[in-house]
Amino acid sequence: MDYALDRFVAEVATAIRATEKVPADLVETQTPKPNIPADLAFPAFRAAKALGVAPLQLAQQLATSLRLPADSLIGAVTATGPFLNFSIHPQRFASAVLDEIHARGDAYGHDDQDEQQTIVVDYSAPNVAKRMHVGHIRSTIIGQTLVHIFRALGYRVIGDNHLGDWGKQFGAIIAAIMRYGKPDGDSETELAQLEAIYARYNEEIKENPELDEEARRWSLLLEQGDPQARELWQWCVDATLRANQRNYDRLGVQFDHAYGESFYEHMLPAVIQEAIDNKAAYRDEGGAAVVEEAGPNLPTFLLQRSDGGTLYITRDVATIEFRIREFDPVRIIYVVDARQELHFRQLFALVRAMGYAHDIELVHVPFGTVFDAHGNALSTRKGNMVYLEALLDEAVRRAREVVENKNPDLSDAEKAAVAEAVGIGAVVYNDLYQDPRRNITLDWGRMLATEGNSATYLQYSYARCRSILRRAATEGPLDDFTTVDCTLLLHASEQQLIKYLARLPDTVREAGARYAPFVIADWCYATAREFGIFFEQCPVLKAETSALRSARLALVTATAQALKNGLSLLGINVPERM
Ligand code: ARG
Repeated sequence: MDYALDRFVAEVATAIRATEKVPADLVETQTPKPNIPADLAFPAFRAAKALGVAPLQLAQQLATSLRLPADSLIGAVTATGPFLNFSIHPQRFASAVLDEIHARGDAYGHDDQDEQQTIVVDYSAPNVAKRMHVGHIRSTIIGQTLVHIFRALGYRVIGDNHLGDWGKQFGAIIAAIMRYGKPDGDSETELAQLEAIYARYNEEIKENPELDEEARRWSLLLEQGDPQARELWQWCVDATLRANQRNYDRLGVQFDHAYGESFYEHMLPAVIQEAIDNKAAYRDEGGAAVVEEAGPNLPTFLLQRSDGGTLYITRDVATIEFRIREFDPVRIIYVVDARQELHFRQLFALVRAMGYAHDIELVHVPFGTVFDAHGNALSTRKGNMVYLEALLDEAVRRAREVVENKNPDLSDAEKAAVAEAVGIGAVVYNDLYQDPRRNITLDWGRMLATEGNSATYLQYSYARCRSILRRAATEGPLDDFTTVDCTLLLHASEQQLIKYLARLPDTVREAGARYAPFVIADWCYATAREFGIFFEQCPVLKAETSALRSARLALVTATAQALKNGLSLLGINVPERM
């Protein structure tokens, strides 16, 4: 898709080429340094060298011979030393940008890169019979954002929740339910009790080895499809899904599938055999399936234990095979804790050694650890772990205080709705505003600050735009957009804000290319600040002329729309008033 900024960049290249003074492959442009008052630069060095002239001279020559079409988005062209600098045409650019935001609405910033290409995103992936902890929360939030971003870019995206619903531990979980009874309670409390009886069972095993035998027996029964074992396991899965669904709903998280590890169980014997046939793995004397040196510097690992049991990685190999067959993806993205980096290097190397996924990009998007406000890593063992439901509840409770403070006049229902959006937004943004690899801190003061780089500030900026528009509407109906003259927006802060709005499409592309939602977060923050400057310097409702008032209102409308689009890619809702 070509947006105004793309057309400007393309026009610059076309204009340089049309002079026929520069070899076509040497027409390259770059963003000028911040102190240069231009929007795009052509550095003449490489072309000048190829032509055997001085860069300065070439830049000069180009400046005089350049011809622009009458409706060009390029305004001024100046040779500054060895650079040819291009500025946008302020009036035409303002109109073009505001036009396309108006025309595309909620789809402004989206692209049409390739809907024939499928991308699978593997995210959230909590474990059954456990509460979702901060690691899964990060995966859920970052993963959902990547789903939004790639969909917006025009890909076919499949989100799959790779539930941890299989493995040795289920023997002990079932045995514990048999011994202590099924927990009750709802959502997270039910799971907390499941965790507790599992822990209690493991504690008791130390004294009573028979319990170990019992767990093993259930594990075997489950694998053999014993109805009672299956039923108890299914109950655990359902209880977990029920509990998690409430949180997913609050976060706006939606999967296309939640196959889970158990789904692949029946494929595993064939997968192991295939690895052995392909010489990617071998059987040792004990009967285990071993993978040695799947790639350079990769430690040896097992695909099957000598007791016949399979592993997390075995199921991941089967999952890749299944996804290739079922979805034919060009890329599979795993949003998983950085501590699983080795797992994914081993997995990717193994499937390549097995001879498939050659034309598929396998990407691990790792993320860092979560610390509490005192700088301590959250851990179940230390007892300071934070779970999803409790986290969201606390966020909303604190957000409610902020809302009460800022706007005590809102109705109770509205306060509740705003607090939900602000609280959830704070949690989500905290996960997204910086590189996912970096660790994050749960610092409520910063997360809910009404100034600075927080979701709250961005939501306020949006609500502020909307409140200006509401006030304008009380003074009389807003002009129809088609009659508004956007070429009047020539104040420096107006022009600056328009340039930010124009950058959203490219920002979304970059966020996708780098698996970096923070690129969009940065854009939101910079745009909101730019809006603040504009609002300080340019009276909107009291603009000098009514035509200028209308144009400024159109700019406010466009800013609200673009901010909303950016935030919605991050999964953050915007309240109309705060
Ligand atoms: N359930 C796993 C865990 O909690 C994460 C699964 C990630 N996805 C995958 N395909 N391995 O650690």
